[in-house]
Amino acid sequence: MRTNTLLVMLLGVLFFSSCSFKEKESKASDPIDEKVAELLSKMTLEEKIGQMTQITVTALEKEGSPGEFDKEKLKEAIHKYKIGSILNVPNPGAPTPKRWNEVLNEILQETNATDKKIPIIYGIDAIHGSSYTDGAVLFPQQIGMAATWDPELVEKCTAVSAYETRASSIPWVFSPDLDLPRHPAWSRLWESFGEDTYLSSQMGVAMVNGFQGEDIGKSDRVAACIKHYIGYGSTTTGKDRTPSIIPERVLRQYDLPIYQKSIEAGAKSVMISSGEVNGTPVHASKKLITDILKDELNFKGIVVTDWQDIIYLHTRHKVASTMREAVKKSVLAGIDMSMVPDNYTFFEELFSLVSDGEVPMSRIDDAVSRILRVKFELDLFRTPVTNPEDYPDFGSSSSVALSYIAASESITLLKNTDNILPLSKEKKVLVTGPTANSMKYLNGGWSYTWQGEKSDEYAKDKLTILEAFEAKVGKQNVLYSPGVSIFEEIDIANAVSQARNVDYILLCLGEHNYTETPGDINSLILTKPQIKLAKALSELNKPIVLILNEGRPRIISGFEKNMNAVVQCYLPGNEGARALVDIVYGDVNPSGKLPYNYPRYDNSLQKYNRKYTESLGDEEQNDDADYQRSYSPQYEFGYGLSYTTFEYKNLSVDKVFIDRGDEVNVSIDVQNTGEITGKEVVQLYVRDLFASITPEYKSLKRFKKIELKPGEVKTISFTIQEEDLKFVNENNEWIAESGEFEIMIGELVKKIVLEKEL
Ligand code: BGC
Repeated sequence: MRTNTLLVMLLGVLFFSSCSFKEKESKASDPIDEKVAELLSKMTLEEKIGQMTQITVTALEKEGSPGEFDKEKLKEAIHKYKIGSILNVPNPGAPTPKRWNEVLNEILQETNATDKKIPIIYGIDAIHGSSYTDGAVLFPQQIGMAATWDPELVEKCTAVSAYETRASSIPWVFSPDLDLPRHPAWSRLWESFGEDTYLSSQMGVAMVNGFQGEDIGKSDRVAACIKHYIGYGSTTTGKDRTPSIIPERVLRQYDLPIYQKSIEAGAKSVMISSGEVNGTPVHASKKLITDILKDELNFKGIVVTDWQDIIYLHTRHKVASTMREAVKKSVLAGIDMSMVPDNYTFFEELFSLVSDGEVPMSRIDDAVSRILRVKFELDLFRTPVTNPEDYPDFGSSSSVALSYIAASESITLLKNTDNILPLSKEKKVLVTGPTANSMKYLNGGWSYTWQGEKSDEYAKDKLTILEAFEAKVGKQNVLYSPGVSIFEEIDIANAVSQARNVDYILLCLGEHNYTETPGDINSLILTKPQIKLAKALSELNKPIVLILNEGRPRIISGFEKNMNAVVQCYLPGNEGARALVDIVYGDVNPSGKLPYNYPRYDNSLQKYNRKYTESLGDEEQNDDADYQRSYSPQYEFGYGLSYTTFEYKNLSVDKVFIDRGDEVNVSIDVQNTGEITGKEVVQLYVRDLFASITPEYKSLKRFKKIELKPGEVKTISFTIQEEDLKFVNENNEWIAESGEFEIMIGELVKKIVLEKEL
């Protein structure tokens, strides 16, 4: 009654108002909840279940005519099954914004011909730029973004992705990825922010803010989808979609906070992990979806499944003996939308389950309300499709420049013996190796296509590493011989003989383009032909700069000692090669830092925040006795060199003895003690000396990237709270135990004591 009365009054107001007043008034006095409730109250069960159904666009295409809708299939989807969402890319690959606009308009014509005219919410994997739109700016993949250690920069880049995705008429992105990979072989490590909870949380929030801004209804913003909740990146084997074992205590301490921070930042949707945690597929876990995500974390947005994952409860995970049971389990667990993606089993089974009283209408209404709410918030009822002409900055040079900056801030200098880098532009170089002349290795997966195999076609005007070297120092100074492909030998002898004629060898090694299960590997060690090439070249005693272009850290310890310099590029995107070459020649001073431990051995995969027992054996370190070494990464989390040097001095805390609720102000002076301007990431770690759960060796709590001119000193301050001293105890509660803690920045350490005398 109350709602109806309000609505009548509101309609009256709207009728007598001017247009602009009308809009303001409707926002002020007609909150979205009321619009949702009003619409929901008029919807049939079919319409509701349709809203919960998401279909892949290719299932609606005409057979034999890729990229063209089969009108009958589109009508069936929208009029018969009343679907609420579509995802993915029409064939044959990345459409232009104009083409996207046509596709979305065709869909709109059909939804406009329905009774309620509820717009479709279209979703896409725009994970490093609007990566399925031809001409969009492609940024470094997330792992590189993490290596910038600069959340502000990440937010700016993500805002460009939002703009260019909306320019393509798409309002919803399946990004950011908040997985916390525990095995470095995982084929999606590069889609994550690396191994640390705090760094991942900060970066996740930056991306959510970059996508969503203050108001997702604005024409340059999109709804984010944080994924893949939860434990997806933690498979024991490192293989995609295999089981994860994560005790709840551990899940709460390391995995959950990353999601919590992005939810607090307002993330509008969550995608569920295709994996199982402790034997329960997450899609069937009421505890993880309803009790923890929706109730405990108070998540109010849409919970969407991953690809075909309700069907997989029956066919793959075998926890449901029929499709009907699979649908029932997952809807009762709390999923709101099913990425079905290419049939109507979900619709049919759910309709029958509700009709038979096995799934209550309240659960359906909850799901549909969440979906409608986001549609209203995105303003899709008024602006279901955008006009590409309203986006003059699509692919603009300033956005390209931002991608270049992100790449140059991410590229990480891991070794630089005798300051061999930067190189002189007058010297001759050989560019060799399988990743030297390809855009697809620079971009990786989810670039124009799922596996990213078409980057060379779509990004043909962009520079490969070889082309960037030629552009920088002239073709006459650059020789090229690939030597090997990723998996096969081509002509190592030729590469070696060419190397004899140059001053430096730029050895470009790494990985092919991949994502998900096609990227699974059985060994972390770099592929054999690449190692053979590296060893053959190192016999020449010419200086070698190893350039790594890889999604995950492939073991290089078999030949690393023969490399004079090592530069990690990750998957730096379309501007990556330019940034790399500017670093190699010293026009840019490198400032990236590793967001993971780079392993030296494949049975020594500890994280930087290892337990003390994992560090045992350090005193035995000896290169010839590999088996004695325990904690021995090739390069450590947080590590990265610069062409200048920094000195840390005067670490101080404003109090040593602290009570609960107190804040500790920490400050440190950082000086550039070298000859050129450089950027440094000041990293603050905390170490709990003794605790009832074995404490971590150290744990990142704060960081700040700063720029210093030669000789310049900056005082950096951080505030530490009781929260930062907490861990999850055996009762799954966050607690800070009384006792001593160390605050560590660089090599400096200060002790603080919580509620206890020294
Ligand atoms: C992936 C998701 C992605 C979805 C839609 C799945 O296979 O796991 O990350 O968002 O496909 O393309």
